[in-house]
Amino acid sequence: MSPTAADYVSKQEVPSAEVGTPFGRASRPKVVGPDAPEPPFPISLAGPVQKGFGRGGKDLGCPTANLPDESITAMSSVAKTGVYYGYAQVVPPEESKPKFRPQDLKVLPMVMSLGRNPFYKNKMLTAEIHIMHEFETDFYGHEMRAIVLGYIRPELDYVSREGLIEDIEIDKRVGLNCLQRQAYQTYAKDAHFEH
Ligand SMILES: Cc1cc2nc3c(=O)[nH]c(=O)nc-3n(C[C@H](O)[C@H](O)[C@H](O)COP(=O)(O)O)c2cc1C
Repeated sequence: MSPTAADYVSKQEVPSAEVGTPFGRASRPKVVGPDAPEPPFPISLAGPVQKGFGRGGKDLGCPTANLPDESITAMSSVAKTGVYYGYAQVVPPEESKPKFRPQDLKVLPMVMSLGRNPFYKNKMLTAEIHIMHEFETDFYGHEMRAIVLGYIRPELDYVSREGLIEDIEIDKRVGLNCLQRQAYQTYAKDAHFEH
């Protein structure tokens, strides 16, 4: 049987993110970055959604869509692992669109984790997008388009799954706050997306 998050937690052999560091829960800023996206942002990504390890939804209550390696080469202009925010859209082929509700196919706010997930000890660099929307339909294999507009925080290691879950919840709120700014909102209408 493959190890679970609990197995990793019980070993506690890796350095951990501490509460009270600049990225501890209490002290995290509610909005980050400049009032308008600055280079290297915006970064456009697109690719078919791949299955990850499925832990995002099951373990963390935060399902993520993984993009394949060739779809994330654009992120090499940043080369910083961590958490980003922006917009994403699921673009299924015409014949699959009836399976989705209109609200599922809109341009939606997202947070993206770019990294090796030290908590789970992954080796490969992955880009995992969490769209802030409740989907009723699976979209594995369908195209996802995204525009990354800013950086929230570095990737951290955690002594507990709860610590990671709590920080992801804060990431979502910070991402939404950041996207409220006028100059960021305009990217929801970008030609990269299907309208
Ligand atoms: C917004 C967000 C922030 C994340 N931050 C971290 C992090 O700091 N450290 C970490 O190890 N993993 C982080 N993760 C990655 C989760 O561990 C990852 O989504 C989980 O391993 C699920 O992967 P899977 O779908 O491939 O199973 C983050 C994920 C999201 C969506």
